[in-house]
Formats: sequence, structure tokens, C-alpha cells
Amino acid sequence: MTGSRIRLGVLVSGSGTNLGAIFDSIEKKTLDAEVAVVVSNKEQATGLDRARARNVPAVFIDHKKFADRSAFDSSVVDVLKKHGAQWVVLAGFMRIVTPTLLDAFPMRVINIHPALLPAFPGAHALKLAIDYGVKVSGCTVHFVDAGTDTGPIIAQAVVPVESGDDEAALAKRILVEEHKLLSRVLQWASEGRIEVTPAAGDARPSVRIRV
Ligand code: GRF
Repeated sequence: MTGSRIRLGVLVSGSGTNLGAIFDSIEKKTLDAEVAVVVSNKEQATGLDRARARNVPAVFIDHKKFADRSAFDSSVVDVLKKHGAQWVVLAGFMRIVTPTLLDAFPMRVINIHPALLPAFPGAHALKLAIDYGVKVSGCTVHFVDAGTDTGPIIAQAVVPVESGDDEAALAKRILVEEHKLLSRVLQWASEGRIEVTPAAGDARPSVRIRV
């Protein structure tokens, strides 16, 4: 590996299998990174246990204790900075983030979404894809911007939708690809290969991976 060890702050709300995949890739040495801290807005998130099991700082911050999203994000930023996070990964983090977080880590906040954006943004991507009747779906890793799942796309993987799929079946098939894609993107980040061309006129910002 040629990259330098980047320090990740990973935000989770649930089972944290993507976080588990990051740990696995680091342990297999296919990802040159270190998880500096895991933060969750859910006290019972399995993702926090995955961190504790590896002696990685795991911090619960109760969003209900804050007056608004920005105040919550400000507390998240404090924790991320305190642990020296350089990149922030939303890995099943079920909160909309605000400019308070985004401005603290400009073009350093990424999200993984279980659909081929721009199709099916939001919290119900799997159900929407099945209900629409698409024959392929997949996952997207993208930079986070102020919208919901609207930021510049870094990478995508395609997954077939089989007839008779329910949300659980499709989620399971997509998760396999999520786990690979997220670690691959983070390794690109570690190697400094993710190049962003800013928005110009009507053109969206675009992302290119340097070879
Ligand atoms: C994944 O499907 C991810 O795309 C979405 O939330 C799910 C999180 O899964 N944002 P896990 O918590 O990593 O298992």
C-alpha cells in the first residue's frame, strides 16, 4: 500500500456492518487507515460495540438532548476533532447533517447509500427500488452536501434485483457490495487519489479517481 494512514471518524446509528467491514479491511491491510473514533446517536447501536471490542473510542451522543440539528452536530464535531479524525464516514447514520459538520470537514464527509443515486435518495431506498420495479439497483458512496443524498458521487456498484425480492433480501445483496465499495473508496482517500472538480456554472462538482 502506498497511502498514509488516514484517521477516520465513523458515525453509525445501527448494526454497523459497514464499520465492521472497515475494521476487517484495516486488519487485512487492504485499507491503510485507522478508526479514530466511532460516534452514534443511538446508545444501543451495535456499531458502538464493534468499536469497543477493538478498543476504539466509542461515543454515544443523544440527539434528543440538543435544541436543534446544528447544536447536535457541533457536539459531534468536537468529539471528531478531539480524536483527530480527518475523514468522516456516515455508515448507516440516520441523521441529516448540517453545515456545522460539513464546514468543519470540507469535502471530507462521505456517505454510503443503498441505491444507485440519483435514483431513490432518502431513508426508504430499498422499498422505493422494489416498488418501482427496477431490475438493477446497488450502492453509492458520495460526498455529503447540504441536500439528502445529493452530493458528488465517488463510486457505485450495481446489484441485480431478483423477482420476489423483499427489502431484506435486496438489502443483504446490496450490503455485500457496500462493504467492498466503502473500503475501496477509503483506500483511494488514503492514497490521496480522490480529485474533486468544483461546480462551475450549471455543472455539478465531479469526482475523478486518479490512476
Ligand atoms: C446501509 O445499507 C447503508 O447504505 C445505509 O444504512 C445501512 C447501514 O448498514 N446508509 P450498517 O449499519 O452498516 O450495517
